[in-house]
Amino acid sequence: RQNERESLYIILNFAKNFYQQQLHESEEGQAIGLSYFRERGFTNEIRKKFELGYSLDTWDSFSKEALEKGYSSQILEKAGLLIHKEGSQTAGYDRFRGRVIFPIHNVAGKVIAFGARILKSEKGGGQNQKANQPKYLNSPETDVYHKSEVLYGIFQAKNAIRQQEHCYLVEGYTDVISLHQAGIENVVASSGTSLTVEQIRLIGRFTPNITILYDGDIAGIKAALRGLDLVLEEGLNVNVVLFPDGDDPDSYVRKVGAEAFKAHLKKASKDFITFKTEILLQDAGNDPFRLAAVIGEVVQSIVKIPDAIKRQVFFHRTSEMMKVDEQMLITEGNKLLRKLH
Ligand code: UTP
Ligand code: MN
Ligand code: MN
Ligand code: MN
Ligand code: MN
Repeated sequence: RQNERESLYIILNFAKNFYQQQLHESEEGQAIGLSYFRERGFTNEIRKKFELGYSLDTWDSFSKEALEKGYSSQILEKAGLLIHKEGSQTAGYDRFRGRVIFPIHNVAGKVIAFGARILKSEKGGGQNQKANQPKYLNSPETDVYHKSEVLYGIFQAKNAIRQQEHCYLVEGYTDVISLHQAGIENVVASSGTSLTVEQIRLIGRFTPNITILYDGDIAGIKAALRGLDLVLEEGLNVNVVLFPDGDDPDSYVRKVGAEAFKAHLKKASKDFITFKTEILLQDAGNDPFRLAAVIGEVVQSIVKIPDAIKRQVFFHRTSEMMKVDEQMLITEGNKLLRKLH
């Protein structure tokens, strides 16, 4: 078992080196991959730091090379690099083809998976993209890659997170990379999925302070609101920063520059409970039934906070925001707390 994990790390590292080499040394990699990264404004230095690469637009250039070097097709398949159809006589074909490659590292810096982006801007963007291809293709779950436990960028960010006693959480690979380039290194990505307890505990190993930097679209915000109660339960302090509609941290930092971006982080940062209360209140308008539902939801979030003093601060603050009696909130909260324990 241990041996098998070890051989997965070795083949994944081999693949990472191969994709990096293709990016810098092959004609296709330079013409397509390198120019893509340059258009996004990624410097040589940042490409090296994140070990970015390119997979050729062929069926088997990677697996052919790996098989020649003596890796078995079984291990390539177990690593998620080779797709082999049941019953097929052929060795199979490369999972990643014609994409730029983002290696995903564990906390110790070992490559455990890849994210691979199609070229051109969005889904179905380029003329030569086949229909229905996802924008990002990721490694499947393997013995060394459990998506729900991984945060992209944790290896590159962990020292900065410890030093600054603070972690920024973004959605995407390119958000992490762009922020590093702007000098903000205490940043990790949940990679598009909603946050899990394992991911929160991973951040909690380094700091209790998290600021969530959402993509600026209301749908995403609402979906994430519920998941964030999890973070409160873990006893972490959560703040939220919103970006203008249509922007994510990567596009916004490129638009306004590093200094204005940092100023925005300071100015727009709100604690999660205040943020949630504001959003729900906006939504409810003057409808008394919906206001009552908002009060219930806010109290539910507050009682997730393990620290009694922090709870008290939030009962006070939100009673003012919702214009209701603080004592009533506390009474409701205590009822819920008795149920919880
Ligand atoms: P986004 O759609 O916000 O992409 O998804 P992005 O990170 O801003 O990427 P660019 O700027 O368009 O290149 C956020 C994250 O969700 C995951 C990826 O981890 C992505 O970074 N995702 C998204 C997928 O895994 N598959 C997809 O098809 C799309
Ligand atoms: Mn998004
Ligand atoms: Mn983006
Ligand atoms: Mn995005
Ligand atoms: Mn009070």
